[in-house]
Amino acid sequence: AAKGVTSKLDFTPISPVHFTVDEFTVPSGYSWTPIIRWGDPLFNDSPAFDIADQTEAAQARQFGYNNDYTDIIRIDGENGRRAVLFTNHEYTNEGIMFPKAQLDADPARVRAVARAAHGLSVVELTRRDKNSAWTYVKGAPLNRRFLIDTEYQLTGPAAGSALLKTAADPTGRTVKGTLGNCSGGTTPWGTILSGEENFNGYFRSAGTTAAQKRYGLSDKATGRGWELDDLRFDTRTAGYENEENRFGWVVEVDPMDPTSTPKKHTSLGRFKHEGANVRIAANGKAVAYSGDDERFDYLYKFVSKDTYREGDRAHNMTLLSEGDLYVAKFTGNSAGEIDGSGALPSDGAFDGRGEWLPLVVGGASAVPGMTVEEVLVFTRLAADKVGATKMDRCEDVEPHPTSGKVYVVCTNNSNRGKGTNALADEVNPRTANRDGHIIEITEDGGDQTATAFGWNLLLVAGDPAKNKTAYFAGYPTDKVSPISCPDNVAFDSSGYMWLATDGAPSSIGYNDGLFRVTLEGPERGKVEQFLSVPRDAETCGPIVHDAERHVYVSVQHPGEEGTFEEPHSLFPDYVKGGTPAAGQVRAPRPAVVQVLPAPHAK
Ligand code: FEO
Ligand code: CA
Ligand code: CA
Ligand code: CA
Repeated sequence: AAKGVTSKLDFTPISPVHFTVDEFTVPSGYSWTPIIRWGDPLFNDSPAFDIADQTEAAQARQFGYNNDYTDIIRIDGENGRRAVLFTNHEYTNEGIMFPKAQLDADPARVRAVARAAHGLSVVELTRRDKNSAWTYVKGAPLNRRFLIDTEYQLTGPAAGSALLKTAADPTGRTVKGTLGNCSGGTTPWGTILSGEENFNGYFRSAGTTAAQKRYGLSDKATGRGWELDDLRFDTRTAGYENEENRFGWVVEVDPMDPTSTPKKHTSLGRFKHEGANVRIAANGKAVAYSGDDERFDYLYKFVSKDTYREGDRAHNMTLLSEGDLYVAKFTGNSAGEIDGSGALPSDGAFDGRGEWLPLVVGGASAVPGMTVEEVLVFTRLAADKVGATKMDRCEDVEPHPTSGKVYVVCTNNSNRGKGTNALADEVNPRTANRDGHIIEITEDGGDQTATAFGWNLLLVAGDPAKNKTAYFAGYPTDKVSPISCPDNVAFDSSGYMWLATDGAPSSIGYNDGLFRVTLEGPERGKVEQFLSVPRDAETCGPIVHDAERHVYVSVQHPGEEGTFEEPHSLFPDYVKGGTPAAGQVRAPRPAVVQVLPAPHAK
C-alpha cells in the first residue's frame, strides 16, 4: 500500500466480541453466508448429512471437518463465475461431533468416521455474477476428497530412502494419506501447498530415539486410537517403524486435475510445517518459506535448483523437488537491553540482522555427521546442530506479493524464559509470550535467494488496554483494534496485510477474528478488526478480494470447548429450537464463510 492508498474494501472496524458470544460478526454494510459446511455432500452419490447416523462411507463423500487452509482459484474463461475451492481438514473434535452415548457404545465407528473427516477437499463453486455469493456445486467434475488411503508420491532426495520404507511400501516412495494439515499456500503456478503439522499425535511410537523425542513421538496410546484399527499408526510394529517419518511434509496438490497424484516434497524438510509460501526470485528460482509451529522451533527457507517457466505448469510442478534448504538465525542489535517485558529497546526498534544457515546446498549436506536424507527426514536435529534461532511458534510465513518482504507470524510461546527455556531476545522479546508478534524480513538486495537479511518487528501483539508493551510499529495504541495470537496471513491487491487469529479468547478474552494491517506510510501498524468468529473458533485461511469487496474465511473448531449435549456454538445453522430445516443441524459445523456487501444475492 503506497502512502494514502485507498481500497474499495472500506469498512468501519468492529468492536471486539466477548469470548462467550456465539456470533459471526461483520462490519456494518456487510453480510455473511456459509459456502460449505462439515458434512455437506460433494458428489451425486453422497448421502445428505445425518449427524445422528454418521458413517465412514457417508463422510468419505462429504466435506470434512475443521477446514483450515483455504483458497478459491478462478477457472479461466468463465467470466469470474466458476472457481475451485481448496480446503484441508486439520483434525477432528469427536466430543462435539458425536453424542456421548455413541462415543461410549461404538468407538470403532467413531474412529472410522473421524478418519474420513480428515484429509483435503476440492470442490467447484459457481455464482450468478461477480457481485453474487458463491455456492458449491454438488457432483461437479473437479470435486475430490483426499482420504487416509489416498496415495501421495514422495519427491526429492529422501524419496526412496531407507528411512521412509515400510512393509507396505518397500520402495519408500508412496505414502497413504496426509495428517494434521494446517495452513498452506497457493503457488505462482496455481497448485496448492498444505503443511502437515501435528502429525505426531496420530502415532504410537517406541519414543526412544533422539528423533522420536525431538518430534514429540511417544509410547502412549493416542487420543484418537487409530493404532487399534491400523497397525501402521503403531510404529512399534515390525515393518512399520518408519511410518511416522512419512508425515510432517509439505504436500502439493493440483486442484485442476482430479486424477493427479498429490506429492510430499522431502526437499522442504520434515517438521511441523504450518504451511509454505512461494515467491519467484528475480533469477527465476522458486523460494519457499515455511515455519515449524512448535515452541522454540525454527524458520526455514527452500530455494529451488531449477527456475520458473511462465505458463509451463508441468515443469513448475517439479520445482519443489530439488534445491537448497536453509534455517534462520537472527541477531538483534540491542541485545542485552531486552528484559523480557516486551518493552522497546533503547534504540527504539526491535531489529537486527539475520542469516540463512545452510542445511542442504547443491545436493550435499551442510550439517556435519548427517547425510542429506537424514537432514531432510530429521530436519529439527539438523537445525539444532547448526545453531538456528529458537522462535515463538512460527505460523504463516508469507512474502508480500509486491514488496517481497517476508512476514513471519509468531503466534505465542507461553514457555519463553520459563525454567531452563530460552530467554527473551530481540526477535522474541517477551517472557511468557501470550500474545505473539510479527517479524518483517527484508532479504539483502531485495533478492529472495540471499543468504542474509535485515529484520524488524512489525507488531508485538496484545490488547493495549491491558498490556502496555503492545507495539504497533509506533502507531498510536489507542487507535488500533486489540489483537492476540496471530496465525494466518493474506495480502490484498491494495497491499494491506490481513491477519487471522487463533487463541485470543484465552489471552485477551475476545473471540478470534480477522484484522487488516497497514504496512506502509504514516499509518503503518494500524490494526483494524474486520470480523469476529463464533465462540471457541479460530479464524483460518483468509482470502481477501478487495476489488470485489469480498472476504472469505474458514471457521475452524467452533464450539470446541463444549460437548455434543451442551454445545458452545450452533454456527453456522443456528438452529436453536424446533425442527431444523432440511440440511441444517443443531450443532456447530466448521465452515467456509463468504463476507460480502449487504444485501447480497444468492
Ligand atoms: Fe494448526 Fe499452527 O496451527
Ligand atoms: Ca488450526
Ligand atoms: Ca534494536
Ligand atoms: Ca494455524
